[in-house]
Amino acid sequence: MKTQALSLLGTTRLLSRSDGPVFAISDAYSTAVPDTDLPWLKFNPFDPTLSPDEKLRQASGYMWAIMAYIQEGNINSGKVSTDWTLCNNPVRKWFHIPFQTYEPLNGREFVHGLTREAPVTMELKSDGGSRQLKTTMWATAFYNPAAAQSLSTVWTASGKPVIPKKNFHFNEGSVIGKPLFTTATSNEYPYLTNLPVWRANINAPDFCVCTPSSGQQCTFSEQTEQCPRTVSNVSLLQFDIAVRDQRSPIGWAYGTFVADGQRKSKEPNPWNRISPLGLMWGNDTPPMGTAAINFPANPRQTGFKDGVIFWNVADMMNLQTGGGHLGCNGRLNGPADNAKSSCLSCHQTASVPDADNKSPAIIYQFGNFNNNNGQCLAKPTALDLKIDRTYFKNFQCSTPFIGPTNIVPVPDYLSGRPKWISLDFSLQLSISLTQWQEWQLAQQHPGMSPRSPGSSFLPGLGAKPAF
Ligand code: HEC
Repeated sequence: MKTQALSLLGTTRLLSRSDGPVFAISDAYSTAVPDTDLPWLKFNPFDPTLSPDEKLRQASGYMWAIMAYIQEGNINSGKVSTDWTLCNNPVRKWFHIPFQTYEPLNGREFVHGLTREAPVTMELKSDGGSRQLKTTMWATAFYNPAAAQSLSTVWTASGKPVIPKKNFHFNEGSVIGKPLFTTATSNEYPYLTNLPVWRANINAPDFCVCTPSSGQQCTFSEQTEQCPRTVSNVSLLQFDIAVRDQRSPIGWAYGTFVADGQRKSKEPNPWNRISPLGLMWGNDTPPMGTAAINFPANPRQTGFKDGVIFWNVADMMNLQTGGGHLGCNGRLNGPADNAKSSCLSCHQTASVPDADNKSPAIIYQFGNFNNNNGQCLAKPTALDLKIDRTYFKNFQCSTPFIGPTNIVPVPDYLSGRPKWISLDFSLQLSISLTQWQEWQLAQQHPGMSPRSPGSSFLPGLGAKPAF
């Protein structure tokens, strides 16, 4: 479809310089044939009657069953550099999402199709002191046939989306895998030792930011000039999974694995030199008047109701690099994610962008928003407590993200619909629609500057498309 060319915009002149594979998008969603055998159903971490130990065992078994399923046919190509070439999978088809940040700063690079994520600064403990290292994460995501069949209702073969008018849902059995690679090296983070290293066409590791010569935003040319890309090494740090599973009280399980390359040095499969950090199916919503940072009181001792954390894995990372490596009060989040958030806190906001091309803000996750309001603050105001209750609420899959209107503004859909249209927790799907709308706008106004990264998630900065 047409989107393939767009995903690779501006990269063709670099192809001759590549010594590795060249990314090809897998987007024939309508050809997807969902699996009938789902091996992870042998495990049930969601059963509320499990003992704490059994819950951990079930979660670990579940996560590794998902990982084996995601890897099947996608690895063992002979070289780690050609693994995850989805089009070559002999077992089942896997798929990417189109329109992932097509602009020069963050857009899909041409070797593996990685896109740039938020910057991560981590404290290094290796040299006895505490050095702050600025890094960037680069990632991609793979959708299984059940998920792709659902995507085919939005991303049709014409390359033009059918924008959902009601809450979108992924099929039961949908699985999404997302490896995240860091610009840090194993000298800096020793747990990266023995992990797969990819060559990818990236810009500066310390997260190059473009300064516009005029106006608020850089043009594409300014971005390309100020933040040039080169083919450099990135190392696997984190592997996220998301599974549509009706046994979960919210309909999804979100989990992540992290690099554990020193302890797993004998593991023959390089993609398995990782350990589960945790699995979550809810946010352990704080009761009225209690801050999310103080609830539950002792998660390490008493655990979370809506998930599990493998504390020894978090401890292993914390010995080498500071940062906590989890989210708010130990709720699940990866080392590349924000410590004030959690996987679900961020993902449950995923919505169809409105006529202003806005979606509910994920910026609260970073604290310090609008007069320093935010989530997971240590000294919350009354408004911050409401933000906690909104962003750490448990939302059912495929239901609108709602909250007080000073926290979650009412959308401006042309239909007049007053509630956000859910995209069933898929932020990539939300981004793809936002960027498609942006692209329509850019075609109507050729001189228009592109948005700055993430601005579509900032209320007030959207640009109104003319349709
Ligand atoms: C602060 C926000 C935020 C947090 C926290 C977060 N994510 Fe994401 N995630 C995103 C955004 C934005 C995207 C889409 C862009 C991309 O792929 O990076 C995404 C993409 C994904 C995808 C690809 C599927 C999709 O369509 O969205 C998966 C799977 C995923 N994240 C899992 C996780 C897991 C597991 C965690 C916790 C360990 C997590 N995420 C934490 C923002 C977040």
